[in-house]
Amino acid sequence: MRDVPLADTTLRVHDVGGGEPLLLLHGFPLDHRMWSGQEALAGRHRLLAPDQRGFGRSGGSAPSSVEQLADDAAAALTALAPGARAVVCGLSLGGYVAQHVAIRHPDLVAALVLVDTKLEADTPDARAARHDLAARVQRAGTRVLAEAMLPRLFAASAVARDTPQRGAAEALVRAMILGTPVATVTAALAALATRPDMTGAFAAGTVPTLLVCGAEDVITPPERMAADAAVIPGARLAVVPRCGHMTPLEDPAAFNTLLAEFVDGLPRRERRA
Ligand code: MLT
Repeated sequence: MRDVPLADTTLRVHDVGGGEPLLLLHGFPLDHRMWSGQEALAGRHRLLAPDQRGFGRSGGSAPSSVEQLADDAAAALTALAPGARAVVCGLSLGGYVAQHVAIRHPDLVAALVLVDTKLEADTPDARAARHDLAARVQRAGTRVLAEAMLPRLFAASAVARDTPQRGAAEALVRAMILGTPVATVTAALAALATRPDMTGAFAAGTVPTLLVCGAEDVITPPERMAADAAVIPGARLAVVPRCGHMTPLEDPAAFNTLLAEFVDGLPRRERRA
């Protein structure tokens, strides 16, 4: 892990491999370990996977907005890979953050990979549900969060439940959820509830974009991501069978193949001045 000091906290960043950087932004309420299935890509890329502020080993101050998390990610990239443009890949919350990195720091971004995520803001009902969940976690701790989230994160079909990696993946996700501080959970839920709609920003076109969705994702389902892919000029959606909301962890081999093919098809990256 590398330390990246920021003005008000220090980010811990998992940094392995070599070559062009791939910035991996984790979902809620997880940490860089959700990308453990992507270590196989370290032979061809430098993988930079921060524990976003408040999460994992970064600890410290809780997040206040997805824009702040995007500025943190940009600062980490600038500090660890000066002059580079990264492929920025984010899952769910990490996908919201990746979108803001692309809009707020376009010079740092060669391409985007948006995984099990969406462009839209929360509906009023979704906001109320996050508020209610935050109150329950404050009263009873992160066990409540694990109970609420785990049944919805992984694919439910029998064939998906039967894969060799499933037990270890669920245990890892449970450990990450239980280990996230309550203050981070409540702050992140507020940040998720107040994040802006990004549809307009992406309709104008930004960078080459791949969307990836688990065929059994019930949080950001394929229909939702297909509608988003239709908004972003030139974007392509890949739907991965037997996966839910945790595609990179549920089927690392399929996910890594998609990612590698997408990156190989990008134009050669110019370094920033
Ligand atoms: C995540 O996986 O990061 C969350 O499901 C994001 C969300 O609830 O919108």
